[in-house]
Order: sequence, then C-alpha cells, then structure tokens
Amino acid sequence: MKRLAILTSGGDAPGMNAAIRAVARTALGNDIAPYAVYRGYEGLINGEIEPMSTLSVSGIINRGGTILRTSRCERFKTPEGQKAAAEILTKHEIDALIVIGGDGSMRGACALNELTGIKVAGLPGTIDNDIPGTDYSIGFDTAINTALGAIDRIRDTAHSHERVFVIEVMGRNNGHIAIEVAISGGAEAALIPEIELDMAGLSVKLDEWQKRGKRSCIVVVAEGAHRATDVEKFLRSTTGCDVRAVVLGYTQRGGSPTAFDRSLATRLGAYAVSRLIEGHSNEMAGIAGSHLCSVPISYVQSGSKPVDPDRVRLVESMAL
Ligand code: ADP
Ligand code: F6P
Repeated sequence: MKRLAILTSGGDAPGMNAAIRAVARTALGNDIAPYAVYRGYEGLINGEIEPMSTLSVSGIINRGGTILRTSRCERFKTPEGQKAAAEILTKHEIDALIVIGGDGSMRGACALNELTGIKVAGLPGTIDNDIPGTDYSIGFDTAINTALGAIDRIRDTAHSHERVFVIEVMGRNNGHIAIEVAISGGAEAALIPEIELDMAGLSVKLDEWQKRGKRSCIVVVAEGAHRATDVEKFLRSTTGCDVRAVVLGYTQRGGSPTAFDRSLATRLGAYAVSRLIEGHSNEMAGIAGSHLCSVPISYVQSGSKPVDPDRVRLVESMAL
C-alpha cells in the first residue's frame, strides 16, 4: 500500500480531526503517503484531493468540526457520481480509502470498493451513536457533554421559576443521545422514537410531581420523536405547569472534543490503518467494551443499533 486517501462525510462530529491526524500520522509512520479528500464524496467527485504531510495535521487534535470539511452528496448515490469518484481515486493511484462518517458514508465506501477494488475502511463518526458494531462513535461523548452543560444551566432557571423545561436533542431517528443525556442530566423523562409516546401519562405524572412539591422538571425529547415546541404546547394545555421548550440543535455538533473522543478517535484511526496494512478491507473499526474491534461494513448496514432497555428503565426509575 503506497497511497491512502482520507475523507469525512455526513454530519461533522467532534473528534473527526483527531481521527484524521491519527490516520495521516500512522500512514506516514509506515511509509504510506496520506491524501486528503475535501468536502466528502462531493469533493471526491470534483477531484478535490491533495497529498498531506505531518504538518497538515498539526494542532488539530483539540479542534471540533473537520479540517477536511464534509458534505451530504446526493450525486454520489447515483452510478454516474460513483463512477466519477472512482475515476479520481484511480487517477491519483490511491490504494486505500478511509471514510470517517456514519453508516450512509460507509455504504458509499463499499460502492467505491466494488467499482475500483481499492481497499476501504470506515471509522464511526457521528454524534448520534447509532452505528451497529461499535459501542461508541466518535463525537457522541462530546455531544452529550455539551447537551449536559446546557441542561445544567437551564436547571437553574427551571428551579428558580418552578418550571418544566422540554429540551430537544439531536439523534436523527433514534434516542441514544436523549437517553444518555436524560440519565446524566437527571431528567424526569425522555421521549424517544423507539418507544411509543405516552404524552397523557406524562401530563399526569407532572401534575403529581408538582403536587408532591417538586419545583422543576426536565423532559428530554429526541428530535426523531417529537418537536419540543409541540410537547410544550401539549403539556401547557394538559397540566397546571409553566412549560418552556429549548432546542439545543447544532450546538451539540460543535466544540472541542472531550478526552474520551480524542482518545477513541486516535485509537480507531491508528487501528484502521494497521488493518489495511494487514490486507483487510471493507471493515469498520469499532470499540467493544474497552477493546478495539473490526466489523464487516456489511454488518454495519444490516440493521439498526437498539437503545439499551436498561437505560430506558433507569430514566423512569430515577424520576420519583
Ligand atoms: P451518515 O454517513 O452520517 O449516515 P448520510 O446518510 O447523510 O450520513 O450519508 C452521507 C453521504 O454518504 C451521503 O450524502 C452520500 O453521499 C453517501 N451515501 C449515503 N448512503 C449511500 C448509499 N446507499 N450509497 C452510496 N452512498 C451513500
Ligand atoms: O447525524 C448527525 C445529525 O446531527 C443528526 O443528529 C441530525 O438529525 C442531522 O445530523 C442533521 O443533519 P444536517 O446537518 O444535514 O441538518
């Protein structure tokens, strides 16, 4: 393997830069020339590719976002788009490609492997933590800590004004962020897409809690389950509580990565390159417990990652 290209795709996630750094430096340490592809598959189709040096990745381990920039590229989903991208890789004599992103991005990597025979590897990079085959994806830990920081601040007003706050977090169509944030933020309830909403039940509980003297409540809602403003409207009309909605939105995607995400990204990046050197392809590097692992990308595409039912129950049992 002489030339290894790296790209980031889909939503940016804190820790992607640490992963890029680890991939580039591990490649250089093994006499492999790293190539940067800018703006995900969009940039690949357009030929936005250039060699990297040790200095290209200096001073980025602490930075959020991705220095390679990223995109969601509909054109790449078409046979013409994939053919154009494949031609760029061939033209630059790339032997292997590492894609940092979610499951959609990894599907794209497999398509390129089929077209070109170039070895591909995936690194799980998304705040959603919804990728099967890994306990954690790069960016999740930072996102939940960011959301937690916001909730801790909102708690002050919730308590002072004796209010219920409905806080909407990201997560696309799953509740991994919501559940983790609800547990660590001490929320009274988490509304997630995986579990049928019992809004009427929630109204009854809020009134009961208030009668028992609870001064404030935090309800975390996953964006895939409901809009916070709709929940706010419903709870205002069905309870005696003073309710406010907050949408945390893109604040969760930005910011300096936590130590956990930097370390995870560095370990996964180095590991993915070593697997490619050993001759493996079409794998995603992941973490199971405290050990790194590799799973076929076909497994990543085969299903969804369920939320842990014990954690869901824990949110309920802590809300007394
Ligand atoms: P994520 O990678 O976080 O799941 P997306 O699903 O938006 O995010 O995918 C990112 C990009 O990966 C898409 O914009 C597209 O270019 C590419 N992609 C997604 N799904 C496929 C697919 N089935 N085949 C080929 N490329 C895909
Ligand atoms: O996948 C990460 C994520 O932030 C989701 O939580 C969210 O639904 C989506 O991306 C938003 O995507 P976009 O940046 O395209 O609006």
